[in-house]
Amino acid sequence: MAKDTFGSVDVAFNNAGINPTDDSSILDTGLDAWSRVQNVNLTSVYLCSKYALTHMVEQKSGSIINTASFVALMGAATSQISYSASKGGVLSMSRELGVQFAKDGIRVNALCPGPVNTPLLQELFASDPVAAQRRLVHVPGGRFAEPEEIAAAVAFLASDDASFVNASTFTVDGGISAAYVTAE
Ligand SMILES: NC(=O)c1ccc[n+]([C@@H]2O[C@H](COP(=O)([O-])OP(=O)(O)OC[C@H]3O[C@@H](n4cnc5c(N)ncnc54)[C@H](O)[C@@H]3O)[C@@H](O)[C@H]2O)c1
Repeated sequence: MAKDTFGSVDVAFNNAGINPTDDSSILDTGLDAWSRVQNVNLTSVYLCSKYALTHMVEQKSGSIINTASFVALMGAATSQISYSASKGGVLSMSRELGVQFAKDGIRVNALCPGPVNTPLLQELFASDPVAAQRRLVHVPGGRFAEPEEIAAAVAFLASDDASFVNASTFTVDGGISAAYVTAE
């Protein structure tokens, strides 16, 4: 356990997530896919936050970063209904934890990446290039983020440089959530 090895739990980065192809329109998504996505994307964040917090409350310090998504802020007609709902849950849970535990010296932030060039997105796009193109057109810079660009934001939120950043909706999305129309 981190506490036994290092003496404290300073940072928790709860980032695991899935985006399977059987999670799509609400009309086609069964309870199986719905529950699997909720378990991996949302219940895991509840559990990992809960057990990190038990140590952080005791030591009166800590930073938790929970990975939500830009889809927690925007709707897509190319739907992945359970994924989007799970990320909305991560966002509001993180906000509430940040507010509840601020006086214990703990910060909790929801990271909202835009589309990132990782296997999660690559697999989805390989299975449906048309849907992929429909997504890419909305990114103002016309490209996806590289994983390092998201990692840099996590390192910032974990650090004391972010000492007054708490309960935030921390978007690292290349401007996608601010865009109405993008340039040709
Ligand atoms: N890639 C994107 O465009 C994008 C955009 C916004 C948010 N996100 C979110 O960022 C996070 C990381 O995604 P990624 O793009 O790096 O995906 P990825 O598929 O490359 O990596 C996901 C990671 O989660 C782990 N994981 C999956 N199920 C798990 C389980 N049951 N137990 C333990 N670990 C498990 C996998 O082993 C893998 O390491 C996810 O929460 C994802 O929803 C991704």
